[in-house]
Amino acid sequence: MPVESATALGGKDVVGINHLSAGEIQLILNTAEELLDVAERPIKKVPALRGSTVVNLFMEPSTRTRFSFEVAEKRLSADTLNFSSSGSSVSKGETLLDTARNLMAMAPDFIVIRHPNSGAPHRLAGVIPVSIINAGDGINEHPTQALLDALTMRQRFDTLEGLRVVIAGDIRHSRVARSNAFLLTKMGAEVRFVAPASLLPLDVEDLGVSTFLRIEPALEGADVVMMLRIQLERQKKINFPSMREYFDFFALTPERLRLAADHAVVMHPGPMNRGVEIDSSVADGEQSLILDQVTNGVAIRMAILYLLAGGRSEAASDS
Ligand code: CP
Repeated sequence: MPVESATALGGKDVVGINHLSAGEIQLILNTAEELLDVAERPIKKVPALRGSTVVNLFMEPSTRTRFSFEVAEKRLSADTLNFSSSGSSVSKGETLLDTARNLMAMAPDFIVIRHPNSGAPHRLAGVIPVSIINAGDGINEHPTQALLDALTMRQRFDTLEGLRVVIAGDIRHSRVARSNAFLLTKMGAEVRFVAPASLLPLDVEDLGVSTFLRIEPALEGADVVMMLRIQLERQKKINFPSMREYFDFFALTPERLRLAADHAVVMHPGPMNRGVEIDSSVADGEQSLILDQVTNGVAIRMAILYLLAGGRSEAASDS
C-alpha cells in the first residue's frame, strides 16, 4: 500500500503541528477518541493496516513515544521494524538519507522518526515517497505529543477553546512546548510560558503566548499545569544556579498548585525528574493526568497512522 496521496489529512506526512489545520487536528482527536476503545477489547487489534510495514527510526532515546508507536502499529495489525542508531550502520558513519534510502529498498509504508537534529523529518519527507511521522526532532517539534496532550485536556474539559494552560520549565530546549504552543493557540486556548529568562526561547514573542519569570502569578486561575524537565543533554552549561534553587523557585509543589483553579489538572510529557521540576506528591496526586497522557498517546498514534493510510470513519471496525 504505497502512501503517496489521498490521505485523510492534508498531506502524506505529519512533521509538525504548523502543517495541520484546526480541522485536521479535530479529525485526529476525534479518530483517536474512537480508537481508545480498541484497548478495552479482549483482542486488542483491528485490521486497518494489515499488510503495511512501519519503520520506527529512533536516533535518540525514548520510552513513551517509541513503545506507544509500536503498540499503536501492532493494534492496527501493521508489521513493524525497529531501528536505533546504536547497533546500526549509523554508528559507522552512514548518513540519515542513505539509511532512509536503504530502508526504502525494503518497501515500508510509513517511517516514524525521532532525531536529535531539528528538521530531520522534514528533510526526509521531501525526498522519501512514503509517509513520514515526526516523533520528535531536536528542539523543534513533537507533534504527536501535543496531540495526545490536547486529547487529554479535551477529555477533561470537553473543549480546548478558552483553556488557560501553564507550561513551565526548560522551554527553550523543549519541542513539546513548541508543538503545544502551536496547537493550543490554534485551537483558542491561552498559553502561559514560565521559565527563568535563560530558559525561554529566543523567538518566544512570535509564539502567541504570554511569558512569566515567576511561576506563582502564572498559576493564578490555570486550568492545566504542564511541567517540563530540564533538558541537560541539549545544554553546554547549566543555565541557572543549581537544581536546589530551581526546585525552590520553579517546581510544582502542592502549595503552588493551590494557586491554580480548583479543577486544575497536572500534566508532564515525561520523563519526569521528581524533586527538580515537580514534587512527587503532585506527580502522583489526584489532579495528575500523567498516565492518562501515556494511554492517549497510543490512540493518537493509531489515529495518525490510520488517517495517513486513507481511513476516514468507522475507525474501530472489526472486519
Ligand atoms: N514524551 C516523550 O517524548 O517521552 P519519551 O522521550 O520517553 O519518548
